[in-house]
Amino acid sequence: MKILILNGPNLNLLGEREPETYGTLTLAQLQEEVTEHVLVSHPNIESLDFFQSNSEGTLIDTLHAARSKFSAVIFNPAAYTHYSYALRDAIAAINIPVVEVHLSNIQNREDFRKTNVIREVCTAHFQSNGVQSYKDAIDYLVDCLSG
Ligand code: DQA
Repeated sequence: MKILILNGPNLNLLGEREPETYGTLTLAQLQEEVTEHVLVSHPNIESLDFFQSNSEGTLIDTLHAARSKFSAVIFNPAAYTHYSYALRDAIAAINIPVVEVHLSNIQNREDFRKTNVIREVCTAHFQSNGVQSYKDAIDYLVDCLSG
């Protein structure tokens, strides 16, 4: 099982960006914690890759390329969640599971975050729990893909 963790716009600024909402962990620290979780709990996972981009086109290209390289993608589309039909179509176009994750609870914030154009085409979603949302997504994929 090969998993790609894909992070969208502004998530490169984790740690300094709105810490009251997103916590104080940097993206590098988040990635370290997720890697540690995999090493300890899921040694059967063959590889875990990380990629972050602020650009919609790069995220689309990365999803297209992932279909022949990975078993599944864990994706935090960040603000694109709320309006990117192009990313929604890219997820629908590929034949590997894509699990949506968010650090915060997007239902309990500004109204524009209640619109989610991505969710319907994702296999599952985890939100509200910071880095734990990513770990929950990994546990879910391990259950699904190794069952
Ligand atoms: C986010 C929630 C989005 O609404 C926001 O635009 C982000 C981060 C989250 O992880 O909570 O950039 O995806």
